[in-house]
Amino acid sequence: MKLVIKGRRPLTGSVKVHGAKNAVLPIIAASILCHGESVISQVPHLEDVYTAVEVMASLGVDARLKGSTLILNTGGLDGFEAPYELVRRMRASFLVTGPLLARLGHARISLPGGCAIGTRPIDLHLKGLEALGARIRTNHGLIEASASRLVGDRIYLDYPSVGATEHLMMASTLAEGTTIIENAAEEPEIVDLANYLNAAGASIHGAGTKVVRVEGVNRLQGVRHQVIPDRIEAGTYMIAAAVAAGRVEVRGVVPDHLKAITAKLREAGIQVEEAESSMLVDAIGRRPVAVNVKTMPYPGFPTDLQAPIMALLAVSDGSGVIAETVFENRYIHVDELKRMGADIRVDGRTALVRGKRMLYGAPVSATDLRGGAALVLAALAAAGVSEVRGVEHIDRGYDSFDANLRRLGASIRRVRAVPAEEKAVSGLGGGSAGSGD
Ligand code: EPZ
Repeated sequence: MKLVIKGRRPLTGSVKVHGAKNAVLPIIAASILCHGESVISQVPHLEDVYTAVEVMASLGVDARLKGSTLILNTGGLDGFEAPYELVRRMRASFLVTGPLLARLGHARISLPGGCAIGTRPIDLHLKGLEALGARIRTNHGLIEASASRLVGDRIYLDYPSVGATEHLMMASTLAEGTTIIENAAEEPEIVDLANYLNAAGASIHGAGTKVVRVEGVNRLQGVRHQVIPDRIEAGTYMIAAAVAAGRVEVRGVVPDHLKAITAKLREAGIQVEEAESSMLVDAIGRRPVAVNVKTMPYPGFPTDLQAPIMALLAVSDGSGVIAETVFENRYIHVDELKRMGADIRVDGRTALVRGKRMLYGAPVSATDLRGGAALVLAALAAAGVSEVRGVEHIDRGYDSFDANLRRLGASIRRVRAVPAEEKAVSGLGGGSAGSGD
């Protein structure tokens, strides 16, 4: 599939964000820890969610998505193996390891591969699980983990890894005694996961801060939970409004989760008004002023908005420097933006973007979900027609992205790419839509 976009149409109107992909994925894995039924609402329709549901089914969990509500019943949990195909397609499947260890004492998971944005190691996850008493062997691309009983411990994370914080928080809920996770990540999705688990009977304190304390309990019971709004989806639409010089209200957000992107857009001279649960971005008749961006763990500027904000810098007045401090290879979208006339120089983890008055439509290819979103944003501002291939990457992280942009006035159509074009995409960067986050 590809998106055909005719640029330079102002975006105006209102868009409602969905539930957060990066909250619902760990919560689905965490449901393994709970007896009985969990009912998760505000679940986005994303390829990654469908993959997570397939992983649950492969473990014997009854998982049914009805509209935006996901019902998970672990009564039939009888497997402890997540197949290679599913983990390759989505590395976050690996997060089931800790819950399976805690609930069943055993887990056999294929090693998650790298992906388009980097090698994505899992050393902090494995080191932490071993600290909790798991015996872990890796051979032939498989992780064999076992533990008769997990026992709480003090764990210091060398890097505030989001996934490792979530993984160890989940595993320690049923461990014996207390676990302290230090130098923990502080993302809102970690707080949402902790809220779900505490509602199920866990005893987690300090989620969202650098020190998370978990007192192990004997049993967790499935509960109802509404997923927090997706701050990355919201930020993407806010940046889209600025790139297309439009006026867009982004509804159903938690403004507090959007401080970094709000501050950056205001610094670029864009008007951003905050209401109770929505942000109004007004860029009508304004050309953004170039700004510098440094991606950091939360509450810093999110790495997942680095590619979208680069699209904004590409059409800003002046030059801006982007420092990507979180991932080692998250500039694959640069060459594709240059095909549209962007002036970008990459040196290691730093990119110098010289803003241009005009970008030009061109055929481009997405190889990861946030880079793909950035190409769409740039195409909205470009003169002429662009074709963005690799839409399956975008569909992994954005629910109804093109439909929402069309409703805001963009000229954007989803069409089937001819086989030759599809082949071209599969040969690129991260390969097929799989081996992503
Ligand atoms: C989560 O990935 C998100 N994915 C990513 O979103 C996001 O970019 C990332 O956090 C950072 O915010 C989900 O939540 C499903 P990390 P995660 O562990 O947990 C290194 C998207 O676009 N590291 O915080 O994998 C790692 O290599 C995706 O929605 C180790 O060295 O991120 C990276 O350089 C992309 N060893 C840094 O830490 C480890 O054991 C941050 O990774 C783990 C991580």
